[in-house]
This record gives sequence, C-alpha cells and structure tokens, in this order.
Amino acid sequence: MTKSSTPDAPTPKLNEHSLSDVRKTATLIDNLTGIRFELPLIDGTLGPKVIDIRKLYTDSGYFTYDPAFMSTASCDSKITFIDGDQGILLHRGYPIDELAEKSDFLEVAYLLLHGELPKASEKQTFERNITYHTMLHEQVHEFFRGFRRDSHPMAVLCGAVGALSSFYHDSLDIHDPQQREIASHRLIAKMPTLAAMAYKYSVGQPFVYPRNDLSYSSNFLNMMFSVPAEKYKINPVLAKAMDRILILHADHEQNASTSTVRMAGSSGANPFACIAAGIASLWGPAHGGANEAVILMLKEIGHKNNIPEFIKMVKDKNAGVKLMGFGHRVYKNYDPRATVMRRSCHEVLDELGIKNEPLLEMAMELERIALEDEYFIERKLYPNVDFYSGIILRAMGIPTSMFTVIFAIARTVGWISQWKEMIEEPGQKISRPRQLYSGAPKRKYVPLHKR
Ligand code: SDX
Repeated sequence: MTKSSTPDAPTPKLNEHSLSDVRKTATLIDNLTGIRFELPLIDGTLGPKVIDIRKLYTDSGYFTYDPAFMSTASCDSKITFIDGDQGILLHRGYPIDELAEKSDFLEVAYLLLHGELPKASEKQTFERNITYHTMLHEQVHEFFRGFRRDSHPMAVLCGAVGALSSFYHDSLDIHDPQQREIASHRLIAKMPTLAAMAYKYSVGQPFVYPRNDLSYSSNFLNMMFSVPAEKYKINPVLAKAMDRILILHADHEQNASTSTVRMAGSSGANPFACIAAGIASLWGPAHGGANEAVILMLKEIGHKNNIPEFIKMVKDKNAGVKLMGFGHRVYKNYDPRATVMRRSCHEVLDELGIKNEPLLEMAMELERIALEDEYFIERKLYPNVDFYSGIILRAMGIPTSMFTVIFAIARTVGWISQWKEMIEEPGQKISRPRQLYSGAPKRKYVPLHKR
C-alpha cells in the first residue's frame, strides 16, 4: 500500500504497462488531510475482490469499522464458496446438491479436510480411521453423571467435547501434523457417540456403544434408538436421509461458529477446546439453534389458519417476532440446502407413511405466503437450511432438543477443516481485532466520600 506524502499531490500516473495495477488498487482519500492511500485489490477464484487493508492502520492511523463483519473477509480459504445472490454453495468446487445426491458424509468430510475427493483406497482408510475412533474413554460416562437429566443436550455436548482435551494428551500439539490428524479423526468419530449419549442420558436409558460394522449415520441412529430390550432395525431410507442432513450441514464458509473456532484456534488452543467453542456459538437461535426454534414456532402457530396473524406479528417490529428458518446473512436467494432438505422431507415422510404431516403442511403454507409477501420479498428473505430440517428430524423420532446437536455433529467436519486450514496457513497469527472507542475520556479517580 502506498500513500502520497503531500496532501495535494495527484495520484501518481500509472504508465501504460502498469495499467493493470490501476485495476489492482483502490484509492482511499482522507478528506481531512487530503492524503491518498492506494490499497491493493486481491482477486479470489470466485466471488468479490477484497481490498487488502492489512497495512491500513500502520500507514494511515485509521481502523476500519465493521462490527458484525457485514463486509469483511476474515481469511483466505479454499474450502467453501457461497454466492448468496445466486444461491450457490460449493465445497472444494463441488455443488452441494451434487454432493448430497451422489456422495456420503464421510466422503464429504475427507473432501473438506484434504481438498480432493478420495480415491477408493483413501476412502476406505479414512472410513476405517473414523470407525476405529468412535469409542470414548469409559471415564467419560462418569463425566455425564455430573449433568442434570433435564440438561439441554447442547450444554452436555459443549462440556463433554471440551473435556475430551483432558483425555487425549497425545493429540494436543497443534504444530504436529500427525497429532492434528488424530485429533481431527477423534472429533469427527466421537461426536455421534457423545451426541447419542447426551440423548440416552436425558431419557434415562443406558448408553449404547458404537458398532464397527455400521456406517457413520446408521451407527448414530443405532446409538440413539437401540435398547437392550430389543434389536433396533435400521431403516436404510432414514440412514440415507440422516447422512444427507449431515452433508447439508457440514460446512458453510465463515459463519459465526466457524469464525469462533478460527478465533479460538488462532491463540493455539487445542482442537477439542476450539470445537467446544464452536458448539457454544452454534447453539444460538440466530444460528444453529434455529432448527429447534422453527418447530417451536410452528407449534406456537398451531394451525394453518393462524398463519396470516403470525405473519402480521413478524412484520410488526415491536412484536420482536422473527420467521425462524427464514433469512440469511449471505443468501439473498433460496438457500440451496433448503431445496435439497425439502425434497428429503417428502421422501422421509413418504417412507414413514406419514400423510398430511401438520407441521410440514404449515411450513409449506408459511413458505408460500412469505414468498408472496412484499415484506419478505424486499428484504430477500428465503427459507434457509433450518426451515425444513427439523420436520425431517422430528419425523425420524429425534427430539427437538437434539436438532442443534445433529447440526454440531455435521459442522464438526467443517470446523475442524477450517481450523486445520488456519493452523497450516504460513505466518498464521493470533486474531486480535481492534475497536472504535466511544467510552469516557481519561479522568481522575473520585474517592468514595466525594461521589
Ligand atoms: C444458519 O452464516 C451462516 O452461514 C449460518 C448457517 C450455517 O450453515 O452456518 O447458514 C446456519 O445460522 C442459518 C440461519 C438460521 N437462523 C434463522 O433462521 C433465524 C431467523 N433468521 C434471522 O435471525 C436472520 O435472518 C439472520 C440472523 C439469519 C440473518 O440476519 P442478518 O443478516 O443480520 O439480517 P438482518 O437482521 O439485518 O435482517 C435484515 C432485515 C431486517 O429488517 P429491517 O430492519 O431491514 O426492517 O430482514 C429482517 C430484519 O428484521 N429479517 C427478518 C428475518 N430475518 C431478517 N424478519 C423476519 N424474520 C426473519 N427470519
């Protein structure tokens, strides 16, 4: 970045051969001092250019100001690309609808972690590595006993994942690629086991051990629903639907929980602690907690006839009511995951012989009305990934409180891939944003008797 020293100096004319440089810089003019700053423009493979402001403060004394990161690229990543206007989502260049159709969750996990689809032998090795890390240290069972039975499973998951760092001292050195890989495998493998344990603990049933003869999603369903009293029959359609739900939730660029994991990881914290931080952030109803909130909202609406009244409340700012499962910071078009999810919804309900499912009927009517309503159209509010997922999970017998837990199982793959990318970034530094200070100026201490 260059700046002209005297206020009225014209921007140095770039001669012909460096014409391309003009396209490669943005000029910032400080109208207070007349100083001009040339800021480099960087092109990505896809998506918006970025203005490189890394030297802005040292050269100009200014910070930029973007509290919710509406216009800020926090990193350079190769993992996921989203085009919010076109409703496009690519993982390592592959469209999400193709992956949901043709791939499986562990293959997508490999893709996110390593950047390429695995060859047959690589896929087999990866699946085996994950399968043989699904069991937990027996003492983790004791850890669960410390929770109330009615704890929200996200609270249990957050605590249990953080506690894993106390069991796996051999995979905490983040600078050792071997240990990073083992920790990644352990986290991907153990999340379903921990999640199912949180559910079993909440219903007072015995924990079910993972089985190495089952696929990732079938294993999770078995650990969730099998009981000692009778054999649990895995429905392949439901297992496939679960696998697809996990694919759809695997990664999503620099969302709040992923940014949390990157921020925590930038200090050198161990991966288990970082993923626990991601779980905490995902829990919020504006983020991963929305799938649970959608079902609660549909139940509150109660009947299709009440939808117009509800929509009126959503449009009344004072009511403080949001249409959960709608809207997105990036998508100003249909969330491509919602399209796949809605199709899956119909498949699962058909497979289960569930006709005219009231919540699905209501969701579809709500979507139809909202998409025709000016309020939603002008704000470009469309269904997001959370709008239909809860209906499928509920139809599969998953309790509402477990919806975000399932989101966390899937997103662990994205979190750990983004964490790995950050740690392996040459010159990786601790993230430390600055601020606009609007507090009290310097002042003298006032003794108690004078206040
Ligand atoms: C996920 O980031 C990711 O990628 C997240 C995620 C992922 O995979 O990681 O995709 C997963 O979190 C999906 C989002 C799930 N959350 C919900 O469904 C909760 C409901 N949605 C909203 O809370 C909201 O849409 C957000 C939080 C998702 C996005 O909020 P923004 O980008 O901050 O948008 P905004 O609040 O500035 O909204 C713009 C306008 C506002 O109205 P005005 O002030 O302009 O009049 O749209 C309104 C908002 O009030 N609005 C809504 C709305 N969402 C936005 N109005 C009613 N219902 C909604 N759902």
